[in-house]
Amino acid sequence: MIKIVESSEEMRRLVKGFKNEAKRIGFVPTMGALHEGHQSLVERAVAENDVCVVSIFVNPTQFNNHEDLEKYPRTLTHDIALLKEIGCSVVFAPQVDEMYSETEINSLFDFDFGGLDRVMEGKFRPGHFNGVVQIVSKLFALLEPDRAYFGEKDFQQLAIIHRMVEVMGLKVEIVDCPIVRETSGLAMSSRNERLSAEQRQNAAGISKVLFECATFAGPESPQELAARITEAINKQPDLSVEYVEVVDAKSLQPVNSWATPTVVCVAVFCGDVRLIDNVKIAPR
Ligand code: PAJ
Repeated sequence: MIKIVESSEEMRRLVKGFKNEAKRIGFVPTMGALHEGHQSLVERAVAENDVCVVSIFVNPTQFNNHEDLEKYPRTLTHDIALLKEIGCSVVFAPQVDEMYSETEINSLFDFDFGGLDRVMEGKFRPGHFNGVVQIVSKLFALLEPDRAYFGEKDFQQLAIIHRMVEVMGLKVEIVDCPIVRETSGLAMSSRNERLSAEQRQNAAGISKVLFECATFAGPESPQELAARITEAINKQPDLSVEYVEVVDAKSLQPVNSWATPTVVCVAVFCGDVRLIDNVKIAPR
């Protein structure tokens, strides 16, 4: 039986019960509008823990733009049905005032990211990661998970969560989960729903270029590869690159060689829909 919880108080009581019974808690934080990418995280959390808690909360403090927040898809009934089917034990779906006081919402939460937030998404979406760390740290404090599951689709978010856990000395284990893609190769995202059928086909060009270009790493420098990728994506119909960054997988700083594990991260507009994707490149 799946339990739907809206109040933090009730959630705290449930967690206490799980802890008393020595049940291991697997946690998947989400903003809802669930698709197969989220599903893969939840399935893993169900398989690897005694109970699986999924949070559904469209976190206002991580949006830089009010319209984006308003437009974010909300599909709670569908999400709950899906979670029930795949064996999730508890859905935590609080209202905003359950998570934040008026003061918190209006003041700046400031976390030291050690530079991780100055590149890529952090550069183009100022304040975004402060909001992510703010909500994830609150959810961790409330749910006390043994493991928490995050997707590599949001590679920078994952690196930042690892840093947060290290800096705050939390004992939760962060589990990195691979990107789930549509058959075309397009990384699954709730934003894909906003693409027309034709745009959705063209958006598959992003991953196609990324996969092809991985073979050029080595003969070409990271800078040359970034230029090649930018050009190849911009050539495709509907697609316009916002950034292509070739970065160290841990520090997320741009690299000059292929000596360390590297990730190529991109943000690309398909029409007015902003999509992100990435591919890992092993040291060579
Ligand atoms: P959301 O975008 O709902 O994503 C929830 C989790 O699903 C994240 O860890 C994300 O990386 C993962 N995910 C999304 N698409 C995926 C895909 N195609 N393959 C694998 N994993 C995928 O990320 C957030 O919400 C929020 O920032 C949150 C962490 C919940 C804080 O508010």
